[in-house]
Amino acid sequence: MSGKPSSNEGTVRAIVVPLVLFALAAVLYGEPWSFVSPVPLATVVPAWAVDETPVRHPELAPEIGFAGFTHRCNDCHKLFPSNPDAGASALRHTDIVLEHGINTRCFNCHNLLNRDTFTDDSGGEIPYDQPELLCARCHGPVYRDWQHGVHGRSNGYWDAQSGLMTRQKCTACHDPHVPPFPSMAPAPPPNTLRMGPHAPVEHLPGGNPLRVSQSSHSKRSTQDVAGDGPGETGLHAGEHNSEDDR
Ligand code: HEC
Ligand code: HEC
Ligand code: HEC
Ligand code: HEC
Repeated sequence: MSGKPSSNEGTVRAIVVPLVLFALAAVLYGEPWSFVSPVPLATVVPAWAVDETPVRHPELAPEIGFAGFTHRCNDCHKLFPSNPDAGASALRHTDIVLEHGINTRCFNCHNLLNRDTFTDDSGGEIPYDQPELLCARCHGPVYRDWQHGVHGRSNGYWDAQSGLMTRQKCTACHDPHVPPFPSMAPAPPPNTLRMGPHAPVEHLPGGNPLRVSQSSHSKRSTQDVAGDGPGETGLHAGEHNSEDDR
């Protein structure tokens, strides 16, 4: 019963086959079984978290505005001598609040004899546009970190041919008169496959480990963390011992 198919059958096939293929293409085009990735969507980094504008715009020239005019510090301070022990009770500059730990004297930083400069350890001059040299006198380790790019921030380019790289000065972030940096809100953590949702790490109150005056406080809070449960404490003690043995 072989033999050529009838011309009728051929015509039907010539119509039906393209029609079926066309319908299939249309269905596939609609992506009925679209791919669902098991990876959670990437966290959108909010714009404030990557904003590179410095917190402050420090005045790097020894100038100050009074009654609509700009004066250099020495315009006034050359005219009258200052009491070397003058503190925060100055008659002028009442807007200046000094909250810099035990560093409470204006002339620890400002130069008694030339107000257009800062003072070094022996009363010599530090140029007004290099306040980092002033900070370095008392914050040596942070200054070293800053020089090496560990503390503070660089703006600009890594590639010297594309443009300049500038290290932000200490005073671009710290107010020299009230230097502690206000607490920062952390940016959201990344979403990583199989790690589940992240709970934010809880900071213990008063536990800033960087503050000397609070070190007894932070020691206590570290113990609190280690001593969560009896089993936990044992584990931690064991770990410590093995580290000491090395
Ligand atoms: C318009 C005049 C004027 C200008 C400009 C001026 N000061 Fe003063 N400043 C004063 C007066 C007045 C006092 C108070 C002096 C006193 O209490 O004996 C003072 C006090 C101070 C003190 C407190 C210690 C002291 O001398 O009694 C510091 C520090 C100081 N000025 C720094 C500066 C700096 C830095 C600049 C420049 C950025 C500046 N001043 C510009 C008038 C001025
Ligand atoms: C830790 C060092 C330090 C101490 C202490 C200090 N200053 Fe300053 N002061 C600076 C620096 C650095 C600047 C440069 C301006 C800036 O970055 O805001 C400055 C700027 C100023 C200015 C210029 C105006 C301004 O806001 O820019 C005045 C006025 C002034 N200081 C007054 C005083 C007085 C008065 C005292 C004492 C009560 C004092 N300062 C203590 C470091 C210090
Ligand atoms: C004459 C010495 C001296 C100079 C100069 C000085 N500081 Fe300080 N600074 C101190 C002392 C003292 C403290 C208080 C430390 C404490 O309380 O544990 C302090 C505290 C600070 C703190 C707060 C630290 C904390 O744990 O909260 C910052 C930030 C700071 N200084 C930044 C600066 C910057 C920026 C400059 C330069 C503009 C500067 N300091 C210049 C002596 C100095
Ligand atoms: C880009 C901003 C930025 C610059 C520039 C910067 N700092 Fe800081 N600094 C910070 C922040 C943020 C902290 C952390 C504050 C905290 O943890 O409470 C800090 C902390 C500190 C502290 C206290 C903690 C510690 O490590 O002892 C000191 C002191 C300090 N800075 C000094 C300096 C000095 C000096 C310079 C310049 C040589 C400088 N900073 C430049 C942002 C900056």
